[in-house]
Amino acid sequence: MKPKVLVARAVFPETLELLRAHFHVVSNQDDHIWTPEELRSRAAGMQGVFTTGSERIDAAILDACPELRICANMAVGFNNFDVPAMTAKGVLATNTPDVLTETTADFGFALMMATARRMAESEHFLRAGHWDRWRFDMFAGTEVHGSTLGIIGMGRIGQGIAKRAAHGFGMRVIYHNRSRLSADLESACKATYVSKEELLSTADHVMLVVPYSAESHHTIGAKELGSMKPSATLVNIARGGIVDDAALAQALASGQLAAAGLDVFEGEPKVHPSLLKLKNVVLTPHIASATIKTRMAMAQLAADNLIAYLTQGKAITPLNPQVIKS
Ligand code: DGY
Repeated sequence: MKPKVLVARAVFPETLELLRAHFHVVSNQDDHIWTPEELRSRAAGMQGVFTTGSERIDAAILDACPELRICANMAVGFNNFDVPAMTAKGVLATNTPDVLTETTADFGFALMMATARRMAESEHFLRAGHWDRWRFDMFAGTEVHGSTLGIIGMGRIGQGIAKRAAHGFGMRVIYHNRSRLSADLESACKATYVSKEELLSTADHVMLVVPYSAESHHTIGAKELGSMKPSATLVNIARGGIVDDAALAQALASGQLAAAGLDVFEGEPKVHPSLLKLKNVVLTPHIASATIKTRMAMAQLAADNLIAYLTQGKAITPLNPQVIKS
């Protein structure tokens, strides 16, 4: 009998077709957002669950689903997984690294450009019919080329952004990370390691690409915002919760910080109401990896992990490989 797999959110029809060739599939193509209880009851009796970053896999669902063997996240971030709890129950966790690196780095760079050069604000102005003349200081923003970019979180995506900045835009790149890169990687990225304090006080643009965890919660709060240059911009393409959004809204409203670009939010899809009222913030709905090609590659990798594990006991991108029996 084919193993049973739950696909917890809507996916490409091609992904469902691939999964159906190997599994008995229960899908959610209407894209209902299930409560944790609904997810639990639908996952009961399944051997695999295909998740996105919005489904929490924790002890409660693991206890309710003793037949579960793998949860494959269609995301590189996996803060929706309680990996230690999954490991304790022998449930494999997989994510989708690498396939989205360059696409996400492109978006981070685009969001920084849009933020520094006030693209959203000026477009809204034009659409509203307010443009009646050229003016010497109209929507004058912050320089990108030749300025200093500070990257917090120097994994694969951070490195991709550093390369774009240093090689393409002649920016000085400084970074802060839990561990320092090798000399070879630093030289490929033309990036200099600095303390978080030095990064915040020196950078013209600060880019957040750090994974979310209890330790990285509110990496940027009121204190950190206060140590940034008033002319600086802040971009968050990492996860909601890395920035204290209420403190950020205050800093943007008071002129303590020039502008911000946010693709992720605390408690998303809700957005802090004060941010919605501000002109000096570019807001996008968690789309940094959203090109058709990349999202298809992410879906394919998540499906391939399910197929490899449930049909051959192997995994391509395991987060807790210790649960795989040799
Ligand atoms: C990821 O892959 O973690 C992105 O945020 C998409 O959800």
